[in-house]
Amino acid sequence: MDRTVSVTPDVLWLGVNDHDTDLFEAIWPLPQGVCYNSYLVVDEKITLIDTVKGNYFGQFLEKIKRALPKGRSIDYLVVNHMEPDHSGSLKVLLELHPEMQIIGNKKTADLLNNFYGITSNVRVVADSDTLDTGKHTLQFFTTPMVHWPESMVTYDHTDRVLFSSDIFGGFGVLNGGIFDDEVNLAHFEDEILRYFSNIVGKYSTMAQKAIRRLDDIEIAVIAPAHGPVFRKNPKYIVDLYDKWSRYEGEEGAVVAYASMYRNTEKMAEAVARSLAVEGICCVRLHNVSKTHLSYLIRDTWRYKAVVLGSCTYNAKLFPLMDLFVRHLDHRMMQHRILGIFGSYSWSGGALKDLEGFAGQGKWNVIQPTIEAKSAPTEENLDDCRQLGKNIAAELRKK
Ligand code: FEO
Repeated sequence: MDRTVSVTPDVLWLGVNDHDTDLFEAIWPLPQGVCYNSYLVVDEKITLIDTVKGNYFGQFLEKIKRALPKGRSIDYLVVNHMEPDHSGSLKVLLELHPEMQIIGNKKTADLLNNFYGITSNVRVVADSDTLDTGKHTLQFFTTPMVHWPESMVTYDHTDRVLFSSDIFGGFGVLNGGIFDDEVNLAHFEDEILRYFSNIVGKYSTMAQKAIRRLDDIEIAVIAPAHGPVFRKNPKYIVDLYDKWSRYEGEEGAVVAYASMYRNTEKMAEAVARSLAVEGICCVRLHNVSKTHLSYLIRDTWRYKAVVLGSCTYNAKLFPLMDLFVRHLDHRMMQHRILGIFGSYSWSGGALKDLEGFAGQGKWNVIQPTIEAKSAPTEENLDDCRQLGKNIAAELRKK
């Protein structure tokens, strides 16, 4: 078996799996881990594309040593993105390869100085600039805000490989299979969507611009910085990212609720049951106190309908529901059908706050809205069933 992993005869994969980090960016859970992909283009000049998180430098260095032809060292390091999950090994690597030139754009140069105090060995490139390494011509396309301002992608004209950085990536370690034809993509899709919706989704407009720029480029392989490498069917991942960054939802509903004593929960269950009775088979019922925000955002990105229900807490929306709503707002979610309901005992608040969110005009709000006092009455539950029925009818409209 090969000791190195070839993407093409000249391009090697040098990724590492992270099984250890609990929270990506200290917020998003990683139950299936994450991987950091780096690539080496072996040519007259040797080019490394991105590094890996600093904790994995030892393993990364071993891979580099194994991949480098005898007596050669790294000539160029292309920095597609400066977030430390990719740039974390950069400074130590530069100490070991002091002749290495770092390639990035003007914003990359600022971040190189701010993060690592690196100001020399930096070659600044502009959008569409190229770098000849011998047989290969690398071209750089800036993709601002996908995911940071300095983000860019690198295209190898010779082998038609797109080193895409964060865009087209996903959560999940690589379980032996590196390429799309070696893995069960269905196993990855939920984690790719969770990565997209949690990390990149806020910048969907910019992701759309990046995807449209790539329309005219012939791509044989998409080599992202996270997740599988797409060599059999790169269109698969481009189409998913295209759909998600247009906020295109699937038929189905997320019913997310906050409930302290199971009264508001009864309302949520009445809505969910009604949706199912009306033939909506994809219904995900989430208690916001049990399901991490990360999954709530993912499912909201997947399905066209969202129903939010909350008890009142200190005269306001329940704190975890408030956090969820603010994240939806922050991500500028669009093209969704929305239902809302709430409850209170001695002071109103939850429904009023949800109405404030719904009233911004961005969502298609379906009636009725329902408010229960302490515990839902049969009439309240009938209204919840009606809400489910009306949402199902809206979902079925073409
Ligand atoms: Fe994978 Fe934005 O870093």
